[in-house]
Amino acid sequence: MRVFSAIQPSGALHVGNYLGAIKQWVDRQSSESLYCVADLHALTLQVEPADLRRNVDDLLIGLLAAGLDPEVCTLFVQSQVSYHAQLGWLLECVATHGELTRMTQFKEKAGRHQGYRVGLLTYPVLMAADILLYQTDEVPVGDDQRQHLELARTIAERFNNRFGSVFTVPVGTRPPTAARVMDLQEPTRKMSKSIDSPLGTLYVLDSPDAIARKVKKAVTDTDGDVRFDWETKPGLANLLELFAGFSDERPEEIAARYSRYGDLKRDLADLIIARLSPIAERYRALQGDPHVIDDVVRDGARKANLIAQDTYARASAAMGLRLSSPATLTA
Ligand code: TYM
Repeated sequence: MRVFSAIQPSGALHVGNYLGAIKQWVDRQSSESLYCVADLHALTLQVEPADLRRNVDDLLIGLLAAGLDPEVCTLFVQSQVSYHAQLGWLLECVATHGELTRMTQFKEKAGRHQGYRVGLLTYPVLMAADILLYQTDEVPVGDDQRQHLELARTIAERFNNRFGSVFTVPVGTRPPTAARVMDLQEPTRKMSKSIDSPLGTLYVLDSPDAIARKVKKAVTDTDGDVRFDWETKPGLANLLELFAGFSDERPEEIAARYSRYGDLKRDLADLIIARLSPIAERYRALQGDPHVIDDVVRDGARKANLIAQDTYARASAAMGLRLSSPATLTA
């Protein structure tokens, strides 16, 4: 069972990333799983080169600290495997403009950024290339990637029907709880790396004090009844989902144990601190040794390239391109 997923180096890791994606990656890592730092994707929003460079390394350290083990799985940087961009182009000639303009994330981000670049529109095609290059069976992601994943499936099926069966059609999987963690201050808006909400975003590397403060100040409601109900009590439902995500219980079970918001918040803060402090500790230890990631990404790129090159060769030949081996190019 081949598993692939990726994350953008576009800012500090938050608990949405952790519970929605990374925790599942860590729990299910094997020699058949590949995880990718999607630096090409981060170029779609204008970013300072020095910031991107730093974000990539910070994210790699964060993923190792969270428990990804490069001895077990493959961890690599997208731009170091050139087939992503190459297959992306082939698939741009398979996807339609209408499919891309319908993507919710495109509409949201394009609305927020005047003069947005074409890459913001074609982004889901690159994402499809990421997934399809590795003949992926399963893609563990948070809820917000569901539409992109559907498109990857559509593109794979259309390609296979038109050019012959080259790609495995992937299935997206989401965690049972906390697949969509909301902002603690605005529980109707997703917690996000790219939106500035200092009190609403819980970062994986936040200090225990910051975690306790943010959870305590999280917006709830005034009726005082502890029930799990997204419709009428989104703030509390979000806290219960967070609790469930960290404790592997069901939100309803947790709600049944409490009669006061304050007690629930206190225990939730303690739980999050207990789960995140070891990650922060490992992060600080790894930060002291920058060469750790050099070896990891070199190894990861080598392993990823081997798989990607095979799929790319098959896809390009199926479309009618003339294959040239690297040896011919340099002769
Ligand atoms: P990104 O970098 O925005 O997020 C990385 C992962 O974290 C999940 N996530 C969340 N889960 C729950 N609650 C939240 N508030 C929350 N915010 C983010 C995301 O669902 C994701 O799983 N386009 C992708 C990166 C990507 C990718 C891929 C993913 C590029 N190529 C191929 C899968 C397969 C993205 O921007 O994720």
